[in-house]
Amino acid sequence: MTGPGPRAPVSAATGWSRPRRTRICPSILSADFSRLAEEIARVEAAGADFVHVDVMDGRFVPSITFGPIVVEAIRRMTRLPLDVHLMIVEPLRHLEAFAKAGADHITVHVEAVEDPASAARAIRAHGVRAGLAIKPKTALGPFLAALPQYDIALVMTVEPGAGGQAFLEGSPGRIAAVRSAIDGGALDCILEVDGGIGPSTAVGAAASGADTFVAGHSIFRAADPPAALRSLRAAIAPP
Ligand code: DX5
Ligand code: ZN
Repeated sequence: MTGPGPRAPVSAATGWSRPRRTRICPSILSADFSRLAEEIARVEAAGADFVHVDVMDGRFVPSITFGPIVVEAIRRMTRLPLDVHLMIVEPLRHLEAFAKAGADHITVHVEAVEDPASAARAIRAHGVRAGLAIKPKTALGPFLAALPQYDIALVMTVEPGAGGQAFLEGSPGRIAAVRSAIDGGALDCILEVDGGIGPSTAVGAAASGADTFVAGHSIFRAADPPAALRSLRAAIAPP
């Protein structure tokens, strides 16, 4: 355990997404929570870029995971940025609690907010980077229109709610559409994919334009999570 450390910079400085580089974000949803600090320390030492933290409320998705109290404990386990993915209804009611708990990025679902542009302002008001996520069957139009306000575009490549599902076949086309919007608008936005990511699916997602890869099962359920993380990175960006 490293104890509380300085937070990564969260200012609205431009250029954080450039130059484009591969980021690997282990999702602790598939980790062993009885030894979570050790699990996180191992992937941190292996070069993880962010720790991806999945918050579920039993309403936006059927499952329940945990809330800000656990995020605050995770904050004390690592110096890596905490990439908090809110799969909850009424996410704006909880921004302050997650920001105070130590989130560096807060991602809300386009399906869960009435006005994505004002949601981004509300997230940034707490001094954290703003992410917008989209489920696999949601029309892309409003999501793409809101991206100029966001630091992170999170394209779900499974239905949200559980780890260990298979990458959905229709995902590469959606990733490519989001990449076109980011590049076409010269947006300062990373393109994160989440769900069913392992060495084989990540290659296709990267070819479609993803730069940031969330992986739960393929890292934490591997016999050697640090080796799995390194293999994933090598598959995407061969040395
Ligand atoms: C699913 C979560 C994901 C999940 C991914 O709703 O948002 O972050 O942990 O798990 P894998 O990589 O196992 O599909
Ligand atoms: Zn997630």
